Amino acid sequence: MDKKNYKFDTLAIHAGGEGKNPHNALNPPIFQTSTFVFDSIDHVDKVMSFESDDYVYTRGNNPTLRLFENRMSALENGNGAVAFSSGMAAISSTLFSLLEPGDNVVVNSTLYGSTFTVITKLLTKYNVNYKIADFTKLEQFEQAIDDKTKVIYFETPCNPNLEIIDIKKVVNIAKNRSIKVVVDNTFASPYFQNPLDFGVDIVLHSATKYICGHGDVVGGVVVSNDLQYIQKLKFDYMCEFGGVMSPFNAWLLLRGLKTLGIRMRQHEQNAIKLAKFLESHNKIQNVMYPGLKNFKGYSVAKEQMRGFGAIITFEVKGGYDKAVNLVNKVKLAQLAVSLGDCETLIELPFAMTHRAYPKEALERFGLTESMVRISVGLENIEDIIDDIDKSLI
Ligand SMILES: Cc1ncc(COP(=O)(O)O)c(C=O)c1O
Repeated sequence: MDKKNYKFDTLAIHAGGEGKNPHNALNPPIFQTSTFVFDSIDHVDKVMSFESDDYVYTRGNNPTLRLFENRMSALENGNGAVAFSSGMAAISSTLFSLLEPGDNVVVNSTLYGSTFTVITKLLTKYNVNYKIADFTKLEQFEQAIDDKTKVIYFETPCNPNLEIIDIKKVVNIAKNRSIKVVVDNTFASPYFQNPLDFGVDIVLHSATKYICGHGDVVGGVVVSNDLQYIQKLKFDYMCEFGGVMSPFNAWLLLRGLKTLGIRMRQHEQNAIKLAKFLESHNKIQNVMYPGLKNFKGYSVAKEQMRGFGAIITFEVKGGYDKAVNLVNKVKLAQLAVSLGDCETLIELPFAMTHRAYPKEALERFGLTESMVRISVGLENIEDIIDDIDKSLI
């Protein structure tokens, strides 16, 4: 389908297909097969020399995976995508594909915990160094770049403090220096933000979150405009490290994508109401949500995002015990890591998603023990507010 003629909600349902499904089925089949059969050695030669794009083995490619990759590529305004078995498989494979011994990667001070571990503990084993800067302070960020810098990596909005990084300004500093800019777009989803539109080289997701939307898949995906890079990432890294997505998970993600737009609109509507309620509550302080006018990232978020998302972080007055009290008491919100599901999920980053960080790192990005992160779900918002309100005693 010609992507230019259609809007996001339509592309999320139709993009990337190659004509009719077998037997005129409305939905694509799940190609639940590990291997594919050749007609002859002639056929083998054609496929293995990329003269034909027929399939060989599911670790390299599979029609269900290809459909998911094509659809994600359309939704992120890219030219190609690679699906992975998890967000972390996507992140680690991307970083390993771009960096060589002696290089360094400049990362924002707020990062998802496992990404931080890959950068500070795994890449360093191969003599790939890292520098940490606060990307909201562009001068500090620029000073961290040197002639060994090959990758700039950040999330926006950041996990868990919802800081917003000005994508265009970062790209402007990186360009002309042969540095690849990589953005983790998990919190915004492609519905609210398309980093490639601002000149970013590579955008990636934990597809486990909003892309799936139902808490039943772990997956990841990388999208880029550079098709040559996508081929290299797929065949030299995804395929060789072996972090392949299963055809069934690709099919579930295709199903999730069909409702991405409508889900994101409702998630956001709920989040705005909950953020306003929390802001006015006398037992809560420091509500971090990009859609609040007094939040420091508000104006950049308004400029580069089409909506503010549905993750809210805040501090409970009175410290860790009070925060624990809240998450232990809630009945509707579920105490769990992850985000982007229909269910409202609540967690304590200090004790859960970000517990791998050393104390100095937590202090650097202002993560306190009394911080609570909520992924606002799709329940009726009055019920969610009531649940939080009754638990804040
Ligand atoms: C922003 C962000 N990036 C990456 C990941 C890792 O994704 P996965 O759990 O699918 O490996 C997560 C997981 O929570 C995340 O929140």
